[in-house]
Amino acid sequence: MNYNISLIPGDGIGPEIVAEAKKALDKVCEKYGHSFSYSEVLLGGASIDVHGVPLTEEAIATAKASDAVLMGSIGGDAKTSPWYKLEPSKRPEAGLLAIRKALNLFANLRPAYLYNELRAACPLRDEIIGDGFDMIIVRELTGGLYFGERKTIEENGVAKAIDTLSYNENEIRRIAIKAFDIAMKRRKKVTSVDKANVLDSSRLWRKVVEEVAKDYPEVTLEHMLVDNCAMQLVRDPKQFDVILTENMFGDILSDEASMVTGSIGMLSSASLNETKFGLYEPSHGSAPDIAGQNKANPIATILSAAMMLRFSLDLDEEANAVEAAVQKVLTAGYRTGDIMSEGCTLVGTKEMGDLIAKEI
Ligand code: NAD
Ligand code: IPM
Ligand code: MN
Repeated sequence: MNYNISLIPGDGIGPEIVAEAKKALDKVCEKYGHSFSYSEVLLGGASIDVHGVPLTEEAIATAKASDAVLMGSIGGDAKTSPWYKLEPSKRPEAGLLAIRKALNLFANLRPAYLYNELRAACPLRDEIIGDGFDMIIVRELTGGLYFGERKTIEENGVAKAIDTLSYNENEIRRIAIKAFDIAMKRRKKVTSVDKANVLDSSRLWRKVVEEVAKDYPEVTLEHMLVDNCAMQLVRDPKQFDVILTENMFGDILSDEASMVTGSIGMLSSASLNETKFGLYEPSHGSAPDIAGQNKANPIATILSAAMMLRFSLDLDEEANAVEAAVQKVLTAGYRTGDIMSEGCTLVGTKEMGDLIAKEI
């Protein structure tokens, strides 16, 4: 079958890692007899350079017309890149937030799974790792602080900046339902993370999550304050199955969860709306420090492409084949620099992509 995929290479390491994910998809096409028609979409700095804005209406229309979007990462070095001389609403990150909002991608799934082969890359002690861990962060993606009113003003000669954090019950309910649905297919535990000891938005969050939980009697619900969760992720990551949380907490906790899997270069993500449509991107950024050096780990992007096959295109067998290929290459001892450990073979971005494509 033919599928229409929007490809967003983006900035920094984005084009390098997307090229490797495309290699994996090309191999899937060859093996399973599909064809993918790609439309390249500019986002972030790449769009600023051409159009002067980080996201155009045309880019949104192309993305909407496709079956799914596969993205690298956007953004640059805030100290040196000219993009950061623009006003905040015209910078690369504003484009990413705008496309998430325009496509209504409220559910961001970030699975953090420790491959047994990567135990040596995990900074935690062996007795903490135990049999390994497997959690998924379900992060609300189109509300909260990211989308509240913000302004910088002057009050009596003193500069003052305001960001607003708000959630309504419908926004909380739909992401909670997503988390419980996912938990039903896993180990049936949801840890809802908030700051209900301080924030009204968290108290509403807790109330709505409790209501949703009534429809899922088989799922164990626990509430955890976000500061404690940050600590528990390194004290005992095995306790988590599904972590449900709001936008900003999910951003921070997912980077932390990624490191206990060995590297942020391993953490895939899917951003979904109410339909099967989604945008798939690694959880990490554009890594300007290693861009253009063939050093970036493409696995998070390749695993994001596997999520795309599974969730948006219903190609389960193909998704499994991509994931199995990643596993095989790790088992064979190949590593990019970020997950390198003693006795393994160091490879670059392209070589890692070739090895994975070959195993599909
Ligand atoms: P980052 O995730 O880009 O990099 C943090 C560190 O992790 C760096 O040392 C980097 O080299 C390393 N790293 C990241 N991905 C890697 C990979 N695949 N393989 C090996 N190492 C990897 O975060 P940052 O430096 O805070 O942000 C850089 C830029 O990326 C900023 O402009 C930021 O806004 C943007 N950003 C974009 C996204 C996105 O597109 N979804 C996500 C996060 C950050
Ligand atoms: C992510 C990124 C983005 C976010 C930035 C680049 C706006 O950090 O996808 O995790 O905070 O959501
Ligand atoms: Mn982030």
